Amino acid sequence: MIARKTIGTFVAFLLAGGFISTSSTYSQVQREEHKLTLRAIMSELGAEYLRLTNALLIEDFKGLEDSARAIQGHPLPDEVVAAIKKKLGRSFHGFERVDEQSHEAAADLVKRAAARDIAGAAKTFGRLAESCVSCHKQFRATLRPLSD
Ligand code: HEC
Repeated sequence: MIARKTIGTFVAFLLAGGFISTSSTYSQVQREEHKLTLRAIMSELGAEYLRLTNALLIEDFKGLEDSARAIQGHPLPDEVVAAIKKKLGRSFHGFERVDEQSHEAAADLVKRAAARDIAGAAKTFGRLAESCVSCHKQFRATLRPLSD
């Protein structure tokens, strides 16, 4: 008698493959049209932030590192900086400070991801969120007209 073996079914969890980035195309279009407004930059930052969140939740360290690096090095053209400076006057220093905090948190997140430190990454993610929200609370309403 021939022994019959049951072949188990294995389900592949293609988690990482589900999140395909479309951001680079978008920002390229923006660059080509020379319409890189602050709002367009922020909108792209928001999309990257969501990709980063997904990567964090599924412990996709490569995706986490890539997104954190993209946030750390996001573009801010000189003409946009000049317009912000003009609009904010003396408050510009406050804007710079919170921008710096945001970039520092993103840089720290790059390191945590590279070290595959998920708990540390979660903490740093909290700091990043705080910096985004802190700047929005102080400056979002004032600076909105720049992109209109
Ligand atoms: C230093 C200041 C500053 C920091 C830091 C900052 N933002 Fe913003 N953000 C702004 C300003 C100003 C606006 C308003 C732009 C507008 O509406 O034209 C804005 C708007 C936005 C918007 C709304 C865009 C829209 O289409 O209305 C999103 C999304 C956003 N930011 C995401 C982020 C994320 C994510 C972070 C952190 C990783 C972040 N921002 C950090 C200044 C900041």
